[in-house]
Amino acid sequence: MNLEAVDPALVPKRTLYTGAAMPAIGLGTFGSDHVPAEEIATAVTGAVLCGYRHLDCASVYGNEDRIGTALQALYADGIRRDELWIASKLWNDKHAAEDVIPACRKSLADLRLDYLDMYLVHWPFPNFHPPGCSVDSRSPTAKPYIHDSFMRTWRQMERLVDIGLARHIGTSNMTIPKLTLLLRDARLKPAVNEMELHPHFQQPELFDFVRRNGIEPVGYCPIGSPGRPERDRTPYDTVDIEDPEIVRIAERLGVHPAEVCVKWAVQRGQTPIPQSTKPRNYMANLRAAASVATAPLTNEEMQAIAHIDRNCRLIKGQVFLWKDNQNWEDLWDPQGEIAT
Ligand SMILES: NC(=O)c1ccc[n+]([C@@H]2O[C@H](COP(=O)([O-])OP(=O)(O)OC[C@H]3O[C@@H](n4cnc5c(N)ncnc54)[C@H](OP(=O)(O)O)[C@@H]3O)[C@@H](O)[C@H]2O)c1
Repeated sequence: MNLEAVDPALVPKRTLYTGAAMPAIGLGTFGSDHVPAEEIATAVTGAVLCGYRHLDCASVYGNEDRIGTALQALYADGIRRDELWIASKLWNDKHAAEDVIPACRKSLADLRLDYLDMYLVHWPFPNFHPPGCSVDSRSPTAKPYIHDSFMRTWRQMERLVDIGLARHIGTSNMTIPKLTLLLRDARLKPAVNEMELHPHFQQPELFDFVRRNGIEPVGYCPIGSPGRPERDRTPYDTVDIEDPEIVRIAERLGVHPAEVCVKWAVQRGQTPIPQSTKPRNYMANLRAAASVATAPLTNEEMQAIAHIDRNCRLIKGQVFLWKDNQNWEDLWDPQGEIAT
């Protein structure tokens, strides 16, 4: 272990409803349009060597095969599989009952694993769209959320646990109405819900709902995704790391505002999965997470950040819209009912 490493034992953990312990920070592995798979895999190697034990992967990120190669080299370096927490996700074109288990097996083969710690349904919509497509593109076969269809997918997710390919299953990009139905009908409830969470998008209702129901919130875009592709930006988006409160706290701590976002996330109770390929940055994020136990943000700072929520969703999901004249907000059930 190199000198700068953080002892993984000092990184906070979340206890899932099964009793399993999940590290309360993971490394994001989505390279958007600009970070090649090889670079992400190099970051995975560096991050694990300096103390990360949780990786957020997905088949659609197009880099699981390279990450699998990196993992094999890490085992040769003495890292044990059972000290890692590895998540992957079912992509939207694999929701059909007969596709779920083969899709999981493909991720396992690419990652060179026997089992996943977590397997998520990436989006609740079964709509195919090609990676990197414009936000204006629409699938002619796009459908709304249909609960019976989702349950057919979920039954196969449950089977993945039964047959030992996934230790836990979870959801991503869900809403309260959709999760309410899933909680009613699931034999195995989701252990986590991965959702967009950063200081300018705190989703307090959904955050409280999942925790009340024994589901751990995993927060994506924890830094406000400053490197996201142009197509995912709008003129209304705000910038978390430029927020005066975040900057003020960063100045007090003598750190980059990104680290304040990570520290706040861990202290609030979600599990952030920041992405970085720069050793300095992913190390700083891990340190920020570990520092919550010894040097937390003050109550005043936590309160101040609670007040800078801008309800600014960055990943709007426009490509999932299924009919004309719809607004992306419809995907997120703003009226408390599932949009049809
Ligand atoms: N479930 C879903 O639907 C979903 C959707 C989106 C994302 N995700 C997951 O969430 C992960 C994170 O989201 P994201 O990558 O969009 O956003 P993010 O983690 O909020 O932001 C990543 C950006 O922040 C920069 N950064 C990271 N740490 C930094 C630091 N300490 N100082 C300065 N800059 C820093 C990185 O640049 P450098 O490389 O230059 O450090 C990178 O450009 C993804 O990788 C993916 O695993 C899941």
